[in-house]
Parts: sequence; C-alpha cells; structure tokens
Amino acid sequence: MAGRIAQTFIDDLLDRLDIVDVIDRRVKLKKSGKNYSARCPFHDEKTPSFSVNPDKQFYYCFGCGAGGNAIGFVMDYENIDFPQAVETLASHAGLQVVREQLTQHEQQREEKRSGLYPILEQASRFFQSQLRRHPAAGQAVAYLKGRGLTGVIAQRYGLGFAPPGWDNLISALAGPEDSDEYEEQLQLLLQAGLIIENDQGRRYDRFRNRIVYPIRDQRGRVIAFGGRVLGDDKPKYLNSPETDVFHKGRELYGLFEARKSGRDLNKLVVVEGYMDVIALAQHDIPFATATLGTATSEQHLDRIYRICPEVVFCFDGDEAGRKAAFRALEATLPTLTDGREARFLFLPEGEDPDTIVRGMGTDHFLNLIDHGTPMEEFLFDTLGQDLDLTAPAGRARLAQAALPMMALIPPGIYKQLVFQALAERTGMAVGDLKTLVDTLPVYQPAPPPITGGEPELQPRQREPLPVVETKKPTAFRNLTESAIRMLLHHPESVRSLSDSDPLHGIDDPDVMFLREIIALLQKRPDSNTATLLGYWHGTPQGELLNRLSGQENLLPKDGVGSEFSDLVRHLGQLPERQDQAAQVDKMKDPYYADLSEDEKLKIKLDFQRRLQLKARK
Ligand code: UTP
Ligand code: MN
Repeated sequence: MAGRIAQTFIDDLLDRLDIVDVIDRRVKLKKSGKNYSARCPFHDEKTPSFSVNPDKQFYYCFGCGAGGNAIGFVMDYENIDFPQAVETLASHAGLQVVREQLTQHEQQREEKRSGLYPILEQASRFFQSQLRRHPAAGQAVAYLKGRGLTGVIAQRYGLGFAPPGWDNLISALAGPEDSDEYEEQLQLLLQAGLIIENDQGRRYDRFRNRIVYPIRDQRGRVIAFGGRVLGDDKPKYLNSPETDVFHKGRELYGLFEARKSGRDLNKLVVVEGYMDVIALAQHDIPFATATLGTATSEQHLDRIYRICPEVVFCFDGDEAGRKAAFRALEATLPTLTDGREARFLFLPEGEDPDTIVRGMGTDHFLNLIDHGTPMEEFLFDTLGQDLDLTAPAGRARLAQAALPMMALIPPGIYKQLVFQALAERTGMAVGDLKTLVDTLPVYQPAPPPITGGEPELQPRQREPLPVVETKKPTAFRNLTESAIRMLLHHPESVRSLSDSDPLHGIDDPDVMFLREIIALLQKRPDSNTATLLGYWHGTPQGELLNRLSGQENLLPKDGVGSEFSDLVRHLGQLPERQDQAAQVDKMKDPYYADLSEDEKLKIKLDFQRRLQLKARK
C-alpha cells in the first residue's frame, strides 16, 4: 500500500508554488492592496470577500470562513482529496510525488479499515434488495409509504430491510458454512458491527426485522447502519456499535446526502432523528442532518462549519429537547468565529420536523427555521429564566452565569456583539463585563446526566451517552488559540521565547499542539504561514489552523514578539491557578460538609502550601 506523502515533499511543493498563480488559474483574481481578491468560489456572494495573501501564501474568505493554502484550495475547489490535490499540483510543477513508508502498525490499521468498507457496502446492497424482494418486505414498504416517502427518496438514502430471522445477512455475505471464506467473512461482519457473537460463541445478525438506514461518511462510504422497528417494539432504533470506521461522536447522518443534493448549502439544519432528515428531504429540504443518538459535539460543529456558515438546531420543545439544545450550545460556542451563525428552533411538544413538514408543508418549515432564536438570545433566555431581571441582583446573576460561557467564543467581532447584547440586557457597561469575565471561574459544562433505572421505563429510550472527555477549560483554549494565531501570522515571534519551556508538562491537547508548532518553528526558522498550514493539513489540528489563519492579527508587527512570550508565560501558570480555583470550589462543595475536620484541614493546608509555592515562583 502506498504510504503517506512525505512532509518534506509537501513543503517543497508549497515552496515552489505561488498560491496567487494556483488560484488565479481557477478563479480570476484582482489585485487589491497587497492582497488579491475575488468573489468567493465556495459560497454565493455579490461582493468579493475572498482574499489571497501572497506573502503568507494562504487564502481566506471573510464571508464563509473557508481558508487554507494552495493545496487546500485545490482540494475544495476541485472536490478532490489531499493526495489527489498534491498529485495535481505536483504534476503541474513537473514534480514526482515522494511517499513515506507506512509503519507496520499503520499498515495493519489501514488494511483493517479498508476491509470493512466493502463488507458494509455489500450489506447495504443486501438490505436494499431485501426491501424490494423479501416476502416479508411488504410491511416495511407499507410502513415507509405510510410515512410519506417515495421510492426516489428511499433510493437516495439507500433505505433497506433486514428481514426477520437470525442469519439472513450471515448466509448472504459469508456463504455456506463449509466454504473457504466463511470464517474470514464472519470476522469482517463482526468487526463491522453487523453481527453479534453471544457468550456461547453463537453468531447472529444484529439487524432483524427492521428498516435499515445506511450511515455514510463524508465520502459516501457506508460505515454503519441504523435500524428501526416496524411496530412498537423496543428499542425503537438500534444503531451499529463503534467500529474502526464508525465513530458516533463525529459522524452526522445525512451530511453526505445533503452535499450531494446539488443545493447551494448556506445553512444546515440539525435534527434529532433519521426519519426527520429523510422526511425533510422528501419535502425538498435536503439540507438536514442528525447526530446519531449522541449529544452534539464540537467535532460535529467543526464538520458543519467547514461546509456552511449557519446551523439551525431543531429540537423538541420539551425539557429533554431544551437540555439537548443547551448542550449543543455549549459545543457551538468555541466554534463561533466571525461569520458563523447558530440558531435554535423549538418545536411544540409532541411534534418533530417530520410531523411538522408533513402536516404544515415545506414553506411553513422553512419559515420556522428562518425565524429560529439567535444563539445569544437562547443563551440569555435560558440562563435568565428563573431570575428576576427587573432587580439589579437578578441581572448581576445573569451576567455571572453568562460570562463564563461567553468566554468560550473565539475573539472577534461576533464576541463583541454578544457582549453588547448582554450589556443591553443587564444594563452593565461592556467594559465592566469584560473586567468581570477574568474574575469568574472557568466554565465547566455539566456532566452528562446519570442514567439510572430500567431503560424501558425511560420516557425516551436512547443509547447510552458516550463517555465525554471532560471539556477543556476555556481559558486554556482561548489563550492557546491566541498564541497559535500569533505564530501562524507572525512565525518569527517564536524567537521571543527564552530557552526554558514554560509549557512543559501541561497535559492539554491544545497546549501540546502549540508546543509542537513552537518546536517546528525553532527547528525550521524560515517556516511561514503556508508551511504551517501544509504541515498539519488534513488533520484536526489543520482545521484549527485553517480557522485561525482567517483571523487576521491586528497587533502591530513589532509588538507581537513580547505579546507572544507574555501569553506563553501566562499559559504556563494557568494549571496552578486553576488548581487553586478548584480547591476553593471544593470547599464550597456540599460534599465538603461531610468531611471530617481533619480532612478539611488537610485540604486547607494543601491549598495554602500551593499558594506559597506559587508566590515563591
Ligand atoms: P425519537 O424517539 O424522537 O424518534 O428519537 P423519531 O426520530 O421521531 O423516530 P420515528 O419518527 O418514530 O421513526 C430521536 C432519535 O434518537 C435516537 C435516534 O437517532 C432517533 O432518530 N434514538 C431513539 C435511538 O438511538 N434509539 C432509540 O431507541 C430511540
Ligand atoms: Mn418522529
């Protein structure tokens, strides 16, 4: 198997290319100041907000947030993947692509994954054929028709039928038990989550007598299935488990189909269920997508905002729906860079997008999403709902609750506007609110609700929530992102750091990434913005860099160095300061009341010792 493209080759390629050239050949550019501009090829616009920076060799669109280096541009413009874009650009420059050897481990993983796609595809085709042919499929077809779906939509979403019985899929895909491939195919079916092995070693089909919905990844490959019962049995929906190719917390149902719909995607609607996505598509609203029985994550949002600048969350108006919306809000805040927008739409109790669009029609639903509640309004309304906002104390409490969450928003004009909105609601000055932010504890999202009792007794039975990583403290994220942004725009500011590494030992993924960038710049001092973007291209870190590359740093060039080293020093001291904050919190904790006097004393002493230690530093 061909290995990854060598990093040195990518650097070399970027060095030889001029992004202005690369883009101009595809989209006519006009010089404007020291940059070049055009109407953005990635979204519909009348006035040009797409800008190409020849010094730093990257492009950015202020309208839709698209951005990156020459390779990224070609990928997005020609809709091809990273290796293909490198091939295209290399062949144009007359270069031969150089690849690295894969490590054995990587090779094994790749082989494992690549074996799963074909079996999942075969399974999907099997289920689809059963919907047309199986003697018991009549009920399934009738069910789908009863929900208002036509054959065209069923086809577009690849709907299928898993017939009743324990081994339909096994016999169809693994063949007779004595065949040569039997055991091998069975292993693949197991790894793909399509069959289950019980304690006695008996294997059987996971999906039985259900409508199945293939879940596709961004490239349209089937990676998992959801299955719905035909009647009222429990559980209503059954999903594939996590596998080497399926990670629920990242995937969005219907995203591939939305992109393939040929519509200009200027917004995406996030709904709760598979059937909602499909029903909306049936009513000519093909831009809905659903999380897969999990809470909305930042990864979901990153994925959405790479495609379009606006998201409308559509939840039930009940208590559960509002809670889910609030968690979606928490995930959204850190991704809200300028130009992005989030709205919340709550449906009347007992309704979902499926019932609304079928009952009231397309225009009605479109009108509803256009009038969704803006993010900040939802935030302030939710936090303020039990407060008396006519009294100063109530308004102060609103500010106290909202500010730590607002601190999650990346710096920018949008953040500024949200501060203004809070100022209007509380009657406090923006400047005072900003001072207040620094004194408040770092926002920690509530842990996922503890699920107890018999699952059957829950009003809505859902799959257990995945174990969420504890959210990164905001202060880390904000400071780290600012530091990375500075390096990205002014790589030379790395020179302002002394030899000692204040970030050493901080166990935070963002900080570790910052340290990687610092190390790279120290090793290769002539790196520029494009080199950095190229180095991490196609990785999650690369997405962060892309986003930050579009946020121009307004600092004067000669001030950046000292600003940067200050920031890094501050960041280095954060763990200590948060520790102290946590200690103080602990003492306020009701559990603290249950501790013995000895234990309380120990915590206090420990806390004081830390303070002294810090003072000595
Ligand atoms: P709902 O119970 O609201 O179902 O679950 P729905 O989407 O309206 O289903 P229909 O219209 O009766 O077919 C919303 C979503 O929660 C997840 C599914 O993704 C579902 O679409 N869910 C629900 C599960 O994963 N498992 C369940 O047992 C139930
Ligand atoms: Mn429904």
